[in-house]
This record gives sequence, C-alpha cells and structure tokens, in this order.
Amino acid sequence: MVARRLSALSLLLGSAGAAVVSLQLTHKPKTLSEIKRASQRRAEIGQRFAASLSADGIPSVSLTDVEDAEYYGEVDIGTPAQKFSVIYDTGSSNLWVPSKKCTNCKPRGGHYDASASKSTAANGKSFTLQYGTGNCQGFLTNDNIQLGGLSVENFTFGEVTSEAKDVFGQAPFDGILGMGPPAAAVDQTPMPMDMLVKQGKIQHNIFAFYLASGGKKGSTLTVGGTDSQFHTGDFHYVPVSVGAHLLPYWLVTAGDIKIGGKSSGACYPFLGCQMVVDTGTSVFAGPPSAMNKVIAEIGNVSADCSNAASLPTITLTMGGKDFELGPEFYVLRGKDDSGKEQCELGLEAVNAGVPIWILGDPFLRKYYTVWDSEQNRVGFALAKQPGQDGLLVI
Ligand SMILES: *[C@@H]1O[C@H](CO)[C@@H](O)[C@H](O)[C@H]1NC(C)=O
Ligand SMILES: *[C@@H]1O[C@H](CO)[C@@H](O)[C@H](O)[C@H]1NC(C)=O
Repeated sequence: MVARRLSALSLLLGSAGAAVVSLQLTHKPKTLSEIKRASQRRAEIGQRFAASLSADGIPSVSLTDVEDAEYYGEVDIGTPAQKFSVIYDTGSSNLWVPSKKCTNCKPRGGHYDASASKSTAANGKSFTLQYGTGNCQGFLTNDNIQLGGLSVENFTFGEVTSEAKDVFGQAPFDGILGMGPPAAAVDQTPMPMDMLVKQGKIQHNIFAFYLASGGKKGSTLTVGGTDSQFHTGDFHYVPVSVGAHLLPYWLVTAGDIKIGGKSSGACYPFLGCQMVVDTGTSVFAGPPSAMNKVIAEIGNVSADCSNAASLPTITLTMGGKDFELGPEFYVLRGKDDSGKEQCELGLEAVNAGVPIWILGDPFLRKYYTVWDSEQNRVGFALAKQPGQDGLLVI
C-alpha cells in the first residue's frame, strides 16, 4: 500500500475581495487490476448514475462506484479541525464522512468525533444513501468545515454510522464532498459552494478542476473562479441541458460523437447525447448500444499498447464546437503484476437505466473544466499538460 500524503495548500490569487482559492488534489492513478475491478463492479451492479424516479417524481441518485475515483483532497471538520480526505465529486451533492459511531466503517482513516469538536451541533435528521450493493446510513450534523483555507460555518453534513458492504474497500479516501447541483442533495442540505457565497467567503459560485495526467502532481480544484495558469486559449461554454430538470446532474448535450472525423451515429437526432460532467468517474462511459458502436469503430487497443498511438481521435460536438480527444487521453495505461505496461480503453458501456453518458476523467484531463452555477453552464478550455510552459507545479 502506497503511503498517503495529503496537503491542502491554499493560495490566494487575484486581488483582495475577489478571492479565488486553490485546493490541491492528490492523484492516485489506478493499477490495471484496479481498473479491471472497477469495470467489473460497473458491469455487475449497474453504474454510478443508475438513476430512478421515486414515487413522488423526485429523482433518487444512486452512487454505485465511489472507488472509481482517482482524485481526492482534504476537508477539515470541527474545532479543532479533524482532517478527512474526500473525493471532490461533481457527480453527487452531499458531504459525508465516516462517524466515530460507525459500526462497520474501515478502521483506517478519519472518523468524525462530535464530542471532540467545540462547534458541533446536532441536526436531528437521519439520511440514507442508496448504493448498488446496499445502503449507507447515518445522521446529519452541523459543524464548521474548512476547504482550501476557507471556512463555512454551521455546515450540514452526513455522519455515516453504517456503510454498505464494500463501498470503500481499499479506497484511499474517507468520504465524499459533493459538488453536484443543489437539486440532487439528500434532504435539501445546502451546498458548500452556495454557503461560501452566502457567507461572503467567495464572490462567485464557480469552481474549476485541473486534473493532471499520468499521476503527476498539480491537480487542483479552484473555488470562486478559474486559474489561467491551467489552460491555454479561451473557455467554450456549453449550457446545462434542459434534461437536468429531470436528472439533477451537471448534464450537457453532445450533438454528435465522431470517430476519426466520421459521425458514429451514437447520439439521438434531437436529444443528442446527454452527458454528466463528472470528476468522480475514471472512464468515459455511455449506454451499451451507443458506446459499443463507438468502441467498434475505434477498434481495440492491444494489451501491449503497440497500436495505442495509431487509434483514431474521438470528437465530441458540444455547444457548436468540436472537442477532440486522442488516444493519449482515452487509453488508460497500467502495469501488470510483472511491472510490464499494459493498455486498456478508458471507454466503457454501462447501463444506467436511462441513456446517459459520463464525461469522466479522460476528457477532464485534456480540458480544464469550469462549473458555473451562476450562468448554469459548463466551460472547457485546453488544459496545459504537466511540464508545459508556464504551468506552476505545486
Ligand atoms: C445552523 O443551521 C441550521 C440549519 O441546518 C439552523 O437551524 C441553525 O439555526 C443554524 N445555527 C446557527 C447558529 O446559525
Ligand atoms: C480488448 O482488449 C482487451 C485487452 O487488451 C481484452 O481484454 C478485451 O477482451 C478485448 N475486447 C475485444 C472486444 O476484443
């Protein structure tokens, strides 16, 4: 097991009053066997965004594969601070961490202890999070939290007292900090971004993720705006889809997916392809019938990586602009047991019950991405790659 090192380094950039704060994320790339395990779980238990409409028409959000995440950072809870490593996850909308009262959470890592915090307040509500393999249960608590050096007072979060089997397994993080749209939050708890704005800590309800490739350092969540050191060229914005009224995710529409410049026919004529822009999934995923078409046109990557460089470019058309993604991003490289490099497609067919796609980390490593709640849009700019000029590696 690799030793875990987390550092929440906060930098104040820009002028006073327009606080843009950076929070360093740790990247732990998956080994090939972890990629295979995650892929098997997705196939067995449905996938991360298995969404369903409950009896009262409110979508219930299922998180089925938290172990899929590769990027995580720190959050402090309570006074004095208790430290937790969490996935900063745009695909869900609540903060939850294991409780000291948890009966079956993994022993290692952080467990929130209310009795050790001077600023804690009982909330009284309980919560349940649905998983493919079972439920996570617990209760809500209010306490001060701190992310990237910014504090939010009296924030409502979940203390997990009973964990679904194997939700976290060997995952190198404790919990999840959801940055999905507010409508997806369990019990309508307020969102961290909303609270930061409301409490005057940042001006703008905007955040951006820079995900470094190849296990390099420097992955960063920027809160309150964007950071120009991470991209070249301008942002191209795509409005959040109307479908987000029914499925409360950061959903955008791709009109077409081209392979080697030719339309794959994978998207519906009017609806297009509905995609969740999701930091918490390590592949680009889509509905089986459509994604299998895309994969068939790409052809397989050979296990020894010998043909990886010659595979065609995938092009997503969003907001009238073409976004290219080459095999250097959509092919995942890992090592087998003997230490030999092996390749696998970072593309996967998954059945969510509704025909949604997940625009996960392969795409987000190529494009520095901003989630803008103020204008209800997501923007993409070409990300500087580690080692490229002007990129400050923290
Ligand atoms: C903290 O937030 C809760 C809502 O979750 C509210 O009822 C309570 O009054 C707040 N406490 C303070 C001190 O602001
Ligand atoms: C693609 O290649 C992988 C490993 O290189 C292999 O496990 C998989 O079965 C192949 N898939 C197809 C459809 O050939």
